[in-house]
Amino acid sequence: MASLSAVSVLFFCVVFSISFKASAERIKDKMYEPIKGAAACFRRLNGTHQFGCTSHRSGNVGVIHFIENQTDLDWLLHSATAEPYMAIIQPKMFTREVMLTLKASEKVNGIVLINNHSAERPGNFSHDDTCPNRYSGLSLVEETCNDTKPWNPAGTGLMLIDWGFPIFHIEDEDNISKLYECYQKHNAHDKDEQMSRSLCALEMNSFMIAAVDSETCIRRSSTTTILNHIRYCDPLGGNNIWSTLYPRLKAEETNKTVIVVAARLDGTSMFDGLVPGAMSPVSGIVTLLMTAKILASIAQNSSDIQSQQDNNVLFLLLNGESYDYIGSSRVVWDMQNRMFPMKPSSSATEQPPPLSLYNIGLFIEIGQISTLGRVPGNDTTILNFHQHQPVSNSVLNRNQMDSFILYMNQYGPEVGLGFKLMKENLPPASLQTFLAANSDIPGVVLTDHGSQYLNKYYHSIMDDGQELNYIYQNVTRDSVQKLVANLAHTLAHTLYCLINSTGPCDEPKVPETDTDSQLVDELFHCYLDTMDCPVFRAAANKANLNSKPASFYVGVNGYNSPIAKLTGLTLALLVNQTVNRTEEECHSDDSHRVFKYIWMSSNLDGTNSSGVCIKTTMNFSTAVSPAFYDIPGYDWTSGKYSTWTESIWREFTIRMFLKPSRSHENLTFSLGVVVLSLSFLIVYFANSRSHILFGNTLVTSSC
Ligand SMILES: *[C@@H]1O[C@H](CO)[C@@H](O)[C@H](O)[C@H]1NC(C)=O
Ligand SMILES: *[C@@H]1O[C@H](CO)[C@@H](O)[C@H](O)[C@H]1NC(C)=O
Ligand SMILES: *[C@@H]1O[C@H](CO)[C@@H](O)[C@H](O)[C@H]1NC(C)=O
Ligand SMILES: *[C@@H]1O[C@H](CO)[C@@H](O)[C@H](O)[C@H]1NC(C)=O
Ligand SMILES: *[C@@H]1O[C@H](CO)[C@@H](O)[C@H](O)[C@H]1NC(C)=O
Ligand SMILES: *[C@@H]1O[C@H](CO)[C@@H](O)[C@H](O)[C@H]1NC(C)=O
Ligand SMILES: *[C@@H]1O[C@H](CO)[C@@H](O)[C@H](O)[C@H]1NC(C)=O
Ligand SMILES: *[C@@H]1O[C@H](CO)[C@@H](O)[C@H](O)[C@H]1NC(C)=O
Ligand SMILES: *[C@@H]1O[C@H](CO)[C@@H](O)[C@H](O)[C@H]1NC(C)=O
Ligand SMILES: *[C@@H]1O[C@H](CO)[C@@H](O)[C@H](O)[C@H]1NC(C)=O
Ligand SMILES: *[C@@H]1O[C@H](CO)[C@@H](O)[C@H](O)[C@H]1NC(C)=O
Ligand SMILES: *[C@@H]1O[C@H](CO)[C@@H](O)[C@H](O)[C@H]1NC(C)=O
Repeated sequence: MASLSAVSVLFFCVVFSISFKASAERIKDKMYEPIKGAAACFRRLNGTHQFGCTSHRSGNVGVIHFIENQTDLDWLLHSATAEPYMAIIQPKMFTREVMLTLKASEKVNGIVLINNHSAERPGNFSHDDTCPNRYSGLSLVEETCNDTKPWNPAGTGLMLIDWGFPIFHIEDEDNISKLYECYQKHNAHDKDEQMSRSLCALEMNSFMIAAVDSETCIRRSSTTTILNHIRYCDPLGGNNIWSTLYPRLKAEETNKTVIVVAARLDGTSMFDGLVPGAMSPVSGIVTLLMTAKILASIAQNSSDIQSQQDNNVLFLLLNGESYDYIGSSRVVWDMQNRMFPMKPSSSATEQPPPLSLYNIGLFIEIGQISTLGRVPGNDTTILNFHQHQPVSNSVLNRNQMDSFILYMNQYGPEVGLGFKLMKENLPPASLQTFLAANSDIPGVVLTDHGSQYLNKYYHSIMDDGQELNYIYQNVTRDSVQKLVANLAHTLAHTLYCLINSTGPCDEPKVPETDTDSQLVDELFHCYLDTMDCPVFRAAANKANLNSKPASFYVGVNGYNSPIAKLTGLTLALLVNQTVNRTEEECHSDDSHRVFKYIWMSSNLDGTNSSGVCIKTTMNFSTAVSPAFYDIPGYDWTSGKYSTWTESIWREFTIRMFLKPSRSHENLTFSLGVVVLSLSFLIVYFANSRSHILFGNTLVTSSC
């Protein structure tokens, strides 16, 4: 009898808890509607400050309010009663003024940027500073930019503000409609009586665990407790790509000069995973890749032997330049410590000798390239050389620079290019890092713009190829594909003239720019439309490629972004030096470090081919600021090296639900209190009478 009652109580408990759990699950699903595929703003830190967004640990909640114009904004600021709110705004309202007003009002708990791709986009949209990299490069020694004459006039600097609430980005039209419908149904009517009814609300979670600044966070991360090791943030960084035209084999190379051709490899934006970077960095990367390809084909076809050349060309693609020149400052540091391009190894029988800053005979940097500066009705596209003043006085250095500009001006007009020399300040560029370390390096930065960026979407989610007027498989006489092919041809021929020490330069052959601009078209397709494209498929030897557009954010040290790897392989593929080796023999070994051997399917049209073994000087070098692991006791406030880190986060979630009215909430709460008190009373009663209710047996099972 006693055991029977115990068993029946247990059975009842189990059945009850199962059925209760199931119904709780269903209620929760009904209440919350998750919105998938939203991108979020996250927190970054430099040596002294924190920037970006975070939510509370358990997420931020607010009532949805759409802001389409000033009227909506004023209502929120002055008449709204159901705070806190989640402001939902379109790109045209996502300005510095509106955003700062919302932050200061303390009425919002978060912001959603809805980006409807079919709607008209604003004329400018840039979230970096008006003076990008304001505190690094040459500005360590002199002023190179100020707000009266900024490089990026469209810059709002929204990326460099510590928001203290979450900001999400939603671009899926169905999701936007869902938000809008819920808002229209529950919130938009009778707005002054919002207090008295249930309202459509959002819960956003993007909690960041790092805080204050990089120094604090790195120090906390490196203190290991007995139980575990907690990481709070990661240094930004990745890999630079380098390659030389001729292999650097012997020690005599240490006294030869190289011409550096550089471009940056990264861009940035406010939102995680959305860094399209069409004009910066893609236009520069593609120009550099094509220049390397054309130069290699001239140099390999000509009869002269590499060792007769006094000069070599070093191609550099620098990563992390958007964050106080991480890549270039690491290259400079490596050069100063005789570790560039690689740390000498005592076990290697063959390795390139170290390069120093004094080996750089000329530095050419390719910046943003576009057709935006073209004057309608004029066949000549004008590009600009930016030169730093004062230029080096060394006569030898002056000569190379002068010949470079002379040749460019000689060959450019044949393909419709003109060049203007700007002798004012340098725009933000990797060259600044090199000049800050050695002001004798002669260098130019080649861009489409004069004293201000033509790109109105610099470092934002909208720098996506539309502004570049790029259309895949539509190469016309005026297209950007043709411009890049022509520029690459001019650069390659000029470079060859500078290094062809055996004699004077030939007139360049009329370029076969049709095949070249087809290839440029394919390259843009890879960088802007999808990474699963013919060129990347050939270079990556059929590896699995993501079909999404590439993201150019540098990422964190240790996580290698696919784009750096794919770009390095593409450079090797385009230079196209094949050797007769089988797939098994096609690999590099540790003691011969001058060449790498990489197996690729060399067919660019994406058809299957048996594959070839490519021999290349292309390699990667670290692009992580020396401040983190290499300089003991680094002064984090000095600004000498980049100190950018990115916070760790667990997840980004955003979900929509109906928030009950305040009176309803109060009622629920009061009811809860009543039920709680009642249940205490009943338990007390049952307990005190248990000998009567259950007899004398001991009931051990409980729910
Ligand atoms: C960090 O950024 C802030 C604001 O942009 C700047 O004032 C400060 O100098 C930077 N600190 C370092 C170490 O770069
Ligand atoms: C502002 O937008 C609201 C809809 O959100 C609309 O009803 C109102 O007419 C607009 N006001 C002006 C001045 O455009
Ligand atoms: C997006 O913009 C297009 C064109 O303006 C418009 O027809 C469509 O309704 C918009 N979609 C949403 C969800 O607002
Ligand atoms: C801003 O910079 C420009 C040139 O870069 C210079 O001519 C001007 O004097 C500077 N203005 C201020 C206020 O420093
Ligand atoms: C950016 O766009 C806004 C609004 O269209 C305009 O007022 C502003 O002058 C523009 N700024 C620049 C630098 O073009
Ligand atoms: C929201 O967007 C995501 C990703 O684009 C999509 O998978 C999901 O179905 C959308 N949700 C709704 C309700 O449209
Ligand atoms: C490089 O030049 C210096 C001085 O011009 C000379 O002393 C040295 O031997 C040279 N090194 C090599 C490897 O040729
Ligand atoms: C095109 O522009 C260049 C440089 O500004 C100028 O010299 C040339 O006269 C222009 N040609 C025409 C046809 O307008
Ligand atoms: C190609 O470009 C030309 C000129 O810009 C344009 O007229 C044409 O419609 C484009 N074709 C396609 C298929 O986009
Ligand atoms: C390089 O110089 C040699 C010797 O004068 C000449 O024969 C060759 O054509 C030059 N190469 C080019 C591409 O101009
Ligand atoms: C590489 O060179 C080979 C032979 O010279 C040629 O067949 C192949 O098309 C080239 N590949 C590329 C990607 O240029
Ligand atoms: C490649 O090497 C194999 C054996 O090593 C040889 O039989 C073949 O003729 C070579 N092919 C070429 C094109 O040199």
